[in-house]
Amino acid sequence: TLTQAEKAAVVAIWTKVAPQVDAIGAESLERLFSSYPQTKTYFPHFDLSQGSVQLRGHGSKVLNAIGEAVKHIDDIRGALAKLSELHAYILRVDPVNFKLLSHCILCSVAARYPSEFTPEVHAAWDKFLSSVSSVLTEKYR
Ligand code: HEM
Repeated sequence: TLTQAEKAAVVAIWTKVAPQVDAIGAESLERLFSSYPQTKTYFPHFDLSQGSVQLRGHGSKVLNAIGEAVKHIDDIRGALAKLSELHAYILRVDPVNFKLLSHCILCSVAARYPSEFTPEVHAAWDKFLSSVSSVLTEKYR
């Protein structure tokens, strides 16, 4: 679980990210699909070329879900319950992929806000994204 200081660091940088969810979401997915092309197999029905409407649409959905988790940082499990069922029971995404996406989200935020992305903020976001991933993968077993 996150300390009060870590929660504050996550919330602080989210206020910067929030107005940019579309761009940061799309960039995170572009990084995911270009660095880890095997992840594209979950999206055979999408046009994954850079800047496509589907890529941008899905990127903003993912980042808005992260925003819900920030808003309910003391109850991430409750906030993402529906998404957890979707990813486990219906989409059956292999849990390793959550680490890859989390890394790409982290890179996108870091690239955009280099001066805010201190080692403390980095560590807090890493921990937060790993809590989000645990919630989204915990229904598998
Ligand atoms: C759908 C969030 C990780 C594959 C979704 C949706 C959201 C979401 C909000 C849309 C749900 C809806 O339309 O009701 C997240 C978050 C993640 C995550 C917050 C982790 C931080 C992943 C990973 C993969 C993945 C790692 C696979 C590499 C998919 C697929 C869909 C989906 C295939 C359905 C797309 C469609 O057909 O519209 N996800 N996701 N997700 N997600 Fe994730």
